[in-house]
Amino acid sequence: MTARYPATRLRRTRATAWSRALHRETVLTPSDLIWPLFVTDGKGVEDPVASLPGVSRWSVDGIVDRAREAVDLGIRCVALFPNTQEGKRSDDGAEALNPDNLMCRAIKAIKDACGDDLGVLTDVALDPYTSHGQDGLLDDAGYVVNDDTVSVLVDQAVNQAQAGADIIAPSDMMDGRVHAIRMALEMGGHHNVQIMSYAAKYASAFYGPFRDAVGSGGLLKGDKKSYQMDPANAEEALREVELDIAEGADSVMVKPGLAYLDIVWRVKERFGVPVFAYQVSGEYALIEIGAREGVGDRDALLMEKLLAFKRAGCSGILTYHAPVAARLLGA
Ligand code: PBG
Repeated sequence: MTARYPATRLRRTRATAWSRALHRETVLTPSDLIWPLFVTDGKGVEDPVASLPGVSRWSVDGIVDRAREAVDLGIRCVALFPNTQEGKRSDDGAEALNPDNLMCRAIKAIKDACGDDLGVLTDVALDPYTSHGQDGLLDDAGYVVNDDTVSVLVDQAVNQAQAGADIIAPSDMMDGRVHAIRMALEMGGHHNVQIMSYAAKYASAFYGPFRDAVGSGGLLKGDKKSYQMDPANAEEALREVELDIAEGADSVMVKPGLAYLDIVWRVKERFGVPVFAYQVSGEYALIEIGAREGVGDRDALLMEKLLAFKRAGCSGILTYHAPVAARLLGA
């Protein structure tokens, strides 16, 4: 008689909205989101990025408006990427070290406007500054050399810290750069400037629209496979993370996001450190374009994906959807 009834009905707790809310395991909030912003020269400029529907490059004044908007929405951190003028790009990416470059001006302007209400994360890599679009210095054979690149990245990081950056995020994948940057920050008195390393950054086909946005796409010859990771590898990602933590990283990043949630999960399980994922430009564009083509409701698609990052173990997510998502969460 009793055999007719299942002993456990998992559907029971799903039956009503109040009960679903009560049993929800994962919560996404605006403070989980880091908003990547593209900076360009000029004043009053909004320059839409064609391959990233809904995303623009802003001049520094507009960036400050976006920063204030972030604070109003409950977003606590923005990530900055410069679109460096053509004439300021060079083989050695020297503009990265200019204390008055676009990046430094944007950092200062945001910190002046928002202070400690908003963290500013800055990308360390040379690709927005090099005439060849690679993240480091090239030898005669076109190979990105490691150690000489690291010494430039160290100077780039210190330059950003001096401008007021709160989190230094090396995205270059050179060996040993986290330790070198940490030591230089300490020696410069920047004891509380954090390092969020792009620890497991893969050589991905999903970065295309970003390279358009910073203007490095057309310049890039070849690929980045000699420093970014092979998408086939997971054990290697754990080694990268282990090293970066030992070298002084405060938090680590996995990038891209959605196709690499297994890496997020393994990193969190193994090391228990703060893990962030970067939902990259190609992932963002696929949602926007897919929704437009009738794949599904844009808002539902993006919120489901962002929630999945948190469920996988992320402390936070870098996403171009940050303002849209924060608005949806506030509604
Ligand atoms: C630069 C950098 C890239 C991204 C973030 N920092 C591009 C690359 O490595 O070629 C990609 C972000 C995105 O696609 O949204 N080193």
